[in-house]
Amino acid sequence: MTCSIPVLVISNRKGGAGKTTVSVNVAAELAATGRRVLLIDLDSQGHCAVGLGVKMGAGQASVHDIFASPTLRLVDVMHETTIDNLFLLPANPAFQHDHCGKNEKRLAQALADDAIAEQFDFVIIDTPPSLDNLLLNALSAAHWVLVPYVPHPLSFEGVRQLVRVLFKVISERNPKLKILGFLPVMTANNVRQHRQVTEQVTKQFGALRVLNGIRSDIKLAEAFAVGKPVRFYAPKSRGAEDFAELAATLIQLMEK
Ligand SMILES: Nc1ncnc2c1ncn2[C@@H]1O[C@H](COP(=O)(O)OP(=O)(O)OP(=O)(O)O)[C@@H](O)[C@H]1O
Ligand SMILES: [Mg+2]
Repeated sequence: MTCSIPVLVISNRKGGAGKTTVSVNVAAELAATGRRVLLIDLDSQGHCAVGLGVKMGAGQASVHDIFASPTLRLVDVMHETTIDNLFLLPANPAFQHDHCGKNEKRLAQALADDAIAEQFDFVIIDTPPSLDNLLLNALSAAHWVLVPYVPHPLSFEGVRQLVRVLFKVISERNPKLKILGFLPVMTANNVRQHRQVTEQVTKQFGALRVLNGIRSDIKLAEAFAVGKPVRFYAPKSRGAEDFAELAATLIQLMEK
């Protein structure tokens, strides 16, 4: 029961670690290369729709509906976006995270649908800042996990805890899951603390796993607020440059 196209989960249990910014902008970068991308928003905060400028009407279908309806297909709840090659499976802002039942494989089952593999080249899943059955659904359905982190002292412990969870999921639930990398976000090279935290992550997990970071750039927050990926809002910004480079790296790692 696996999806035959690459499924990438963006995860960090810590709130505000850049998950949604990374999800939306990586999705837009991959779509710009002509790859057909499905972005799934598992977080009931519903921020992917905000970041893509997708207006959600009350009672509109959402990815969370699959947990109440065992036969619902993802192709029946996805939305077009204004961006070529990019579709969104939006979140239900009224969804209560403890209401997704006990089935950790429901999302994997829904993704193992020929219609998804025919219509898309990549699936990206944005996850909530929690360790619950929704996150287990995402990790059970995925081939890859990317961990963004803000290089603050407390983040390192959070990343370590998450990696323990990831290893448990790999050994007990989904042996296909691999850690694609750790991504420092909101970085500033002149802040010693940032360098120190990333050195710790590198020492613990290996230099190959630590990707070039996304620098701090207010344009990323502004782009989000107007519902556009940064490549459209401020194409010459640091943020746009960093996300283009990140997407090229991810493509190399996932398609090799
Ligand atoms: N590189 C960056 N430079 C400046 N601001 C950033 C950057 N990345 C993210 N932000 C801002 O930081 C805030 C948190 O980012 P984001 O919403 O992506 O985190 P998150 O991990 O998805 O949060 P949550 O856990 O609540 O879902 C947002 O206001 C976002 O615009
Ligand atoms: Mg988020």
